[in-house]
Amino acid sequence: MSKPNRNIVITGFMGTGKSAVSQIVAKALGRTLVDTDKTIEREFGKSIPNIFASPTLGERAFRDAEARVCNELSKKQNLVIATGGGTLVPRQNLNALSQGASIFCLNATLQTTLNRLQDARDRPLLTSMQDKRSELQALLDDRRHAYARVFHQIQTDKLEPEQVAKRILDLAKLDDQLSGPNTLMVKTPPEGCYPIWIHDQVLSQLPSLLQWVQVPSRRIALVSNPRVRLLHGETLSNALQSSGFEVLSIDIPDGEERKTLDTVAQLYHELLKHKVSRHDTLVALGGGVTGDIAGFAAATYLRGISFVQVPTTLLSMLDSSVGSKTGVDLEQGKNLVGAFKHPKAVLIDPSMLHTLPREELLAGLGEAVKHAIIGDVELFELLEHFDPQRTSGKALEALIARAVRVKVSVVEEDPFEQGRRAVLNLGHTFGHAFELVSQFQIRHGEAVAVGLVAAANLAHMLGLCNEQLPRRIVQLLQQIGLQTSFEGHSPKTIFDAMAHDKKRSNQGLRFILPRAIGDVDIFDVSDDSIILDAISSVSQLSSH
Ligand SMILES: NC(=O)c1ccc[n+]([C@@H]2O[C@H](COP(=O)([O-])OP(=O)(O)OC[C@H]3O[C@@H](n4cnc5c(N)ncnc54)[C@H](O)[C@@H]3O)[C@@H](O)[C@H]2O)c1
Ligand SMILES: [Zn+2]
Repeated sequence: MSKPNRNIVITGFMGTGKSAVSQIVAKALGRTLVDTDKTIEREFGKSIPNIFASPTLGERAFRDAEARVCNELSKKQNLVIATGGGTLVPRQNLNALSQGASIFCLNATLQTTLNRLQDARDRPLLTSMQDKRSELQALLDDRRHAYARVFHQIQTDKLEPEQVAKRILDLAKLDDQLSGPNTLMVKTPPEGCYPIWIHDQVLSQLPSLLQWVQVPSRRIALVSNPRVRLLHGETLSNALQSSGFEVLSIDIPDGEERKTLDTVAQLYHELLKHKVSRHDTLVALGGGVTGDIAGFAAATYLRGISFVQVPTTLLSMLDSSVGSKTGVDLEQGKNLVGAFKHPKAVLIDPSMLHTLPREELLAGLGEAVKHAIIGDVELFELLEHFDPQRTSGKALEALIARAVRVKVSVVEEDPFEQGRRAVLNLGHTFGHAFELVSQFQIRHGEAVAVGLVAAANLAHMLGLCNEQLPRRIVQLLQQIGLQTSFEGHSPKTIFDAMAHDKKRSNQGLRFILPRAIGDVDIFDVSDDSIILDAISSVSQLSSH
């Protein structure tokens, strides 16, 4: 997985020390240093100001040359590359250079930049001296978004070039250790990203992950519940402490019924009691309930502190820890209060699932099947051969990574749930109705599993898919050990619960329906009798 020959790319605005730092890094590693500006100057036989000033060349020729140089360098290894200030602004240049490379963006405040540029005469984009500040500000504003796309950001104001270089060398080592096929980078709006690190037996390596994402301080509020803390808390706090982190352990109650504002208030009190500051990090260790509460507290406490998720149930690994939604329930309903809060990182260690009760594992598998139907045929096939008793940590890791990938791609397309993200509710319109009429006696994951069957049957009735599809879904769910029917309630009762739960549009009720495995869409269904038929197809009246 590691690739120690990866290039080290150093970018950033002018005056952030790219050249000086790159020289130190190259020397420390005994590597060749390539400066893209100098490469281009050599190519044209002219200085950059002269290239810009030339009527036959100009900025256009310079930018074309930059793109060419980025492409060529991306094919090489073992280099330290210092880019020009605008080189990575075009996304394709960033994509080319970051392939298999460690990439760093150096930042500085405008004042530091001005001080450092006091004598700069050879900056072609800076013309008159008195306009320097506003010109610099405008240029920086122009490029800010592009810089933010780089994973490693280093604030250089208070650091000497040697210190910046040291940090780059440390982070590059962590890149070798932590990046790989099961490390997913999730893009967050407007620009930026965070890693989901999926590996078996890595719980005790959380400190490396925290250093990799540069959490702002070494104080960690470790939020868990008594049950999970007993099982996995000690491993985690020992690992953190032996890496020099101070751990403040805070327990919140277990159970959905305690996913309330009261619990959040209780958590705020604990955070205050431990003097948790804006620079400290809240780590949530637990299932979706813990993650949702702790994430909401992290989003709001002191107007927001850094947040890291360590999900411990299958459902939280592949569903609730991905997508930045956090929140709590009100008396009137579930998840009615909340916030979008991007974590700084997510660590998923499948070995923690060994302690999870079977029915909780099944509930998570129900959501995994949902993800497969939404966007991954191969995941569906993997699940068809899944045997929890005989699945190795590595295989589980791969399966979770695939399921997470489906959710990540949907979330990246629609980060604030404006449209497409609704497909993640596949099976949930029916599922919620089953939960409601059972008065929450049926587990969410179990209800969703039956909901998937109902949705597939409805899709078939509407002519959206062939009859094979619902059959294949039923077969998979049964093989996993999930129910595929919901008994004891009349279809009409279930229909009423559904119609009550969902706002009806003029076009009828809204469903997510599959056309095939890996192909789902949003449909409004106005014919109530077909919906009733779909409900009947999975519900039998046995106890009346
Ligand atoms: N934020 C989101 O996007 C999102 C998405 C889906 C679901 N959710 C929320 O997630 C919650 C459900 O999450 P959940 O299914 O993880 O439930 P949960 O957090 O209640 O965990 C289930 C039970 O398993 C225990 N547990 C957790 N990890 C364990 C382990 N490794 N070994 C043994 N026991 C362990 C917990 O203490 C709990 O008793 C719901 O509140 C739901 O609303 C949120
Ligand atoms: Zn769900």
